[in-house]
Amino acid sequence: MAFAALALVVSTPATPASARTVDFRPGAAGIGDPAYPLDGNGGYDVLHYHLDVRYQPATDWLDGKATITATATQHLSRFNLDFIGLTVEEVTVNGQPARVRRDGDELVVTPARGLLKGLPFVVVARYHGIPETFRVPEIPLESRFIHTDDGALVAGEPESAATWYPVNDHPQDKATYSVNVTVPDGLTALSNGIPLGSTSSAGWTTWRWAATSPMASYLSTLAIGRWRIDQHRHDGRPTVIAVDETLPPTLADDAVERTDEITDFLESLFGPYPFEANGAIVDNHDPLLFALETQTRPVYPASFFDDGPNPLDDNLVAHELAHQWFGDSVSVRYWKDLWLNEGFAAYAEWLWSEHNGFMSVREWFNMLYDTELGGGLWTPPPYDPTGGTDPFRISVYSRGPMTLHALRLTVGDDAFWTIMRRWVVEHRYGNAETEDFVALAERVSGRQLDGLFAAWLTGSVKPPNPDPLPPGARKAAIPQPRNLHR
Ligand code: TRP
Ligand code: ZN
Repeated sequence: MAFAALALVVSTPATPASARTVDFRPGAAGIGDPAYPLDGNGGYDVLHYHLDVRYQPATDWLDGKATITATATQHLSRFNLDFIGLTVEEVTVNGQPARVRRDGDELVVTPARGLLKGLPFVVVARYHGIPETFRVPEIPLESRFIHTDDGALVAGEPESAATWYPVNDHPQDKATYSVNVTVPDGLTALSNGIPLGSTSSAGWTTWRWAATSPMASYLSTLAIGRWRIDQHRHDGRPTVIAVDETLPPTLADDAVERTDEITDFLESLFGPYPFEANGAIVDNHDPLLFALETQTRPVYPASFFDDGPNPLDDNLVAHELAHQWFGDSVSVRYWKDLWLNEGFAAYAEWLWSEHNGFMSVREWFNMLYDTELGGGLWTPPPYDPTGGTDPFRISVYSRGPMTLHALRLTVGDDAFWTIMRRWVVEHRYGNAETEDFVALAERVSGRQLDGLFAAWLTGSVKPPNPDPLPPGARKAAIPQPRNLHR
């Protein structure tokens, strides 16, 4: 309905003479991130994705229909969507068939008529096929659309969405989502946000989800399988904690069942939890070797959890939940700024660990400071303002939190917590860069902090230790990492 009227507006300009002078141009094939030149696209901004997908695990087959509502940010003769593998049947724009061409992992869509800057338009794409799993050569690691023994799981960073729907695949273009997933009766399909229930007919069950806060596409997930589900409300928010039914009930459950408690603790530090829902998804699939901060419902691999109490299990949950503030609500503008996600989530881990009676923040800091591993910690540094190189380096997880700790020691607790809370308020649901953080820290503290950030964030030389352990203190043993990526 709405788009029929829209099509009229677009195809019948008030003054035909001026319409002829409109300079419609193709949207760019990438959004302009030097580290990933083809991620995202130019010329439009997506408001909402409505996805209807049907998945049959027996054949790995997916049928999909994506309804994408966007606004043109330039006069568009054509535009791209990121899309990997699947076969496109048909694309319409404002109800009229569009021409579609494949160019690698890009769909090039030419609508019947140009799209005027500032006006909304609706794209409907129908597609099908077997979604592609991303495999890292030589390592048994899978990501993006993962085919599991009881269903499927989508998780991957910096991209994963384009393996199951056409998308403007970069954190700069956040949108809300409604997702309907149809699976054979007996299986449960999970996604982000609020659970809207399910209906069954003719052997299939459709599960409905709504992500009502702006979400970066790599944070959207789909998890199909058989789960042990704890669904409840916490602080009024629907919370869905799903653990693979094949896991013994003491393995991951002990840690993910602390989701509410850890969220409350993080709220006491960083201010209100930013989203409409919360939860966890734990899948038992050996090649899943990472956790991911999928919005409102982090994905965890079974292999990261020990049987019995292990503080590192809770730390992983604290890490992914902290990402809801740092990474999900406040997202990077360019992937070069990844330490704004990982450094902050890692520092939140230290804070939780201290609160939880495990290692203190100071012990974590010193453990990393003293480590002889050295490699990758001091060079390359966590932040390279020129971008371009692989942003996923180990130092974002180590010197990232060390930078925050050094900042806290320099400006004092009051200023530090004001900086952290203002950061999440000022950039809520948006994108930010390192320069914004440095400017905020200088504004709040009233100090010149170039030297501090040069030493901890961009430099390659180990600075003097600002927080040594008292003489004679027992040194913390390095906890055995079970994972490289978290
Ligand atoms: N950002 C993820 C986390 O903090 C971990 C991660 C790093 C990752 N690189 C990845 C996840 C690549 C998936 C793919 O939990
Ligand atoms: Zn992380």
